Amino acid sequence: MTDQTSNQMWGGRFAAGPDAIMEAINASIGFDQRLAAQDIAGSRAHAAMLAATGILSDSDAAAIREGLLTVLSEIEGGQFAFSTALEDIHMNVEARLKELIGEPAGRLHTGRSRNDQVATDFKLWVRDQIDAAEAGLIALMRALLAQAEAGADWVMPGFTHLQTAQPVTWGHHMMAYVEMLGRDLSRFRDARARMNECPLGAAALAGTSFPIDREMTAKALGFDRPAANSLDAVSDRDFALEFLSAASICAMHLSRFAEELVIWSSAQFRFVTLSDRFSTGSSIMPQKKNPDAAELIRAKVGRIFGATVALMTVMKGLPLAYSKDMQEDKEQVFDAADSLMLALAAMEGMVRDMTGNREALAAAAGNGFSTATDLADWLVRVLNLPFREAHHVTGSLVALAEAKGCDLPDLTLADMQDVHDGITEDVFNVLTVENSVASRTSYGGTAPEQVRAQIARWKEVLA
Ligand code: ARG
Repeated sequence: MTDQTSNQMWGGRFAAGPDAIMEAINASIGFDQRLAAQDIAGSRAHAAMLAATGILSDSDAAAIREGLLTVLSEIEGGQFAFSTALEDIHMNVEARLKELIGEPAGRLHTGRSRNDQVATDFKLWVRDQIDAAEAGLIALMRALLAQAEAGADWVMPGFTHLQTAQPVTWGHHMMAYVEMLGRDLSRFRDARARMNECPLGAAALAGTSFPIDREMTAKALGFDRPAANSLDAVSDRDFALEFLSAASICAMHLSRFAEELVIWSSAQFRFVTLSDRFSTGSSIMPQKKNPDAAELIRAKVGRIFGATVALMTVMKGLPLAYSKDMQEDKEQVFDAADSLMLALAAMEGMVRDMTGNREALAAAAGNGFSTATDLADWLVRVLNLPFREAHHVTGSLVALAEAKGCDLPDLTLADMQDVHDGITEDVFNVLTVENSVASRTSYGGTAPEQVRAQIARWKEVLA
């Protein structure tokens, strides 16, 4: 006789139910209930296929498919009582289906296993997240494009080592992030295309002796084809790892921009003003307006990287095919996906609302001898000096300006000629930041005309 408390799914072999600790470590229903919609979609596709192949009667399949919709509406309506004893979403759904429709429910699991079921559910869920990430990325790229367009010719300092390097344009800086996010977009799309093979029908690991039609279920669930090796299909989590990898790189990009916004919004820089909607105040210092959203975006990266390392570590020593270790895949991916979507949305809001402070940017653009390279280039172009010598002459002029406490354009022609007697009045033209950026017309350069060309190209790509 089977113990009343033993599992209703496999109770036949068991005399007693699990210890409470066993149940606690084993159950995934606390988190995998997030896969309910995908689980039910997978089961409905499977039932339809079982009927089409004559494995199940049409009436049983119809009862199953109808009953599953009822289960879904109960879950979505918050009326579903999830049970830890039933371990996971798959068994919770099936048990409720049995309460609703009786005997035919027991036929649903023909020719499949929870191993191919969970791989399918999870892949469908990750695929949805990729679509969400894509939408979030495109919205953020559009916000950056709008900023770039408004300030295509605004001058600001460009930095290397966070030291003033050469003047650049605001639009150019914004478009640098559009390029980064564009690569993120293509990484997510690549991952989506690669993962789009259906594990369903791989069954426990070896396939099944039932005459199932895997093409049919794959198609019904929006996959390009069934996964070609049943062992691989149930043991593969590359799709989750690729999502996490793309998410990690994307989050790293967001974090870099977040860091810039933190710096730029400080009283010392005043390059941007963040909107009230995306700032917070201080409970003690009345003057404070803090860039908390940017700081949290910068920090969210830690969770996303952590999830990537965690899942890599879970997978790295697993023999084929399924091992229960793989249940530890979900929470990490859920958390990383939630963090990424929130970070993308917050960044989009911040960028859309922020104001670039044109005057402060322009004032900073001219500081720090930012047109020294333009001066050296002029010496090469007009006086035909070797670049190394021009570099040296310019260095002496910078030292002179520094000693006099002024900027390069404030030196007199006589000052200049003391250092090199070939210098003429004409040199002052290249010392303004506006002329500096306007001259950098090489492909991909900071000149407003180049920036506008890139904006136009991206607008077309995203249209
Ligand atoms: N809850 C399990 C998971 O998330 C479902 C698969 C269980 N398979 C098994 N053979 N016990 O991985």
